[in-house]
Amino acid sequence: MKIITLLNEKGGVGKTTLATHIAAGLAIKGYRVILADADPQGHATVALGANRAPGLYDLLVRDASFRDVLVTIPTNRYQIPGHDVTGALYVVPSNEETRAIPLMTSDTLVVLNRFKELENTVDVVIFDTSPTPSLLHGSIYLASHAIVYPTECEYLSLDGLAQSFKHRDMVQPLRDQQGLGKLDIMGIIPTKYRASTLLHASNLERLQKAFGEKVWTPLALATIWGEASSQRRPVFNLAPESKAAAEVWHIVERVQENIA
Ligand SMILES: Nc1ncnc2c1ncn2[C@@H]1O[C@H](COP(=O)(O)OP(=O)(O)O)[C@@H](O)[C@H]1O
Ligand SMILES: [Mg+2]
Repeated sequence: MKIITLLNEKGGVGKTTLATHIAAGLAIKGYRVILADADPQGHATVALGANRAPGLYDLLVRDASFRDVLVTIPTNRYQIPGHDVTGALYVVPSNEETRAIPLMTSDTLVVLNRFKELENTVDVVIFDTSPTPSLLHGSIYLASHAIVYPTECEYLSLDGLAQSFKHRDMVQPLRDQQGLGKLDIMGIIPTKYRASTLLHASNLERLQKAFGEKVWTPLALATIWGEASSQRRPVFNLAPESKAAAEVWHIVERVQENIA
């Protein structure tokens, strides 16, 4: 089982969009996937048609069983029309109670220890996170195998990225203490990208110079993304022929290569 976390300490850069699409895409491809919503806003929960609920809170604070908190996402919500889904997709829902998790438990290994229970029943866990750093992030850092960083090619998002890297480095000694190994950057994904904007193009070049192959092909700015979130479906399902669907499918494939 692999745990992959979407992170950037800037809001609105595409964490939730990518978390939901990577989770749904891997389920389409045959993986048993859990999308764990760790943002009190609960946007990953609602993006796939589920209802906000204290799922993560119940799991980590009230010691609820996974059976009691997991919500199954029906395949017709995310499948590519005309194609069968060969895996399965479940959500650990979130609501504002998620904010209280770090106040209610000081056990930094709680996420690691709870999600370990799924070792033989789930293939991939995707964590969506909030932009505001908290002790819950620390706990997720300890449980994760790799991080995916979406970023806009603009100053504040790149600054959010730098802050996120700093916090990741701060957690490494704790990981070492627990024998957990280095926390990998799986990829940095430029989002809302406009190739015709000089600033975007030059910031992309800077990113590529600094991180090389870790910088994946950008997702272009497109209105279909907003449409998909308002219809609470992924673009594969809503507009399977769109450029956006092709671009994000490529990302799903890249994640698949990384977890193989
Ligand atoms: N490539 C894109 N082009 C245009 N809009 C996008 C794109 N990616 C995401 N969005 C939209 O931007 C908003 C913020 O994205 P979201 O994934 O919620 O960011 P975050 O989780 O980092 O706060 C959403 O309304 C989403 O639909
Ligand atoms: Mg979000």
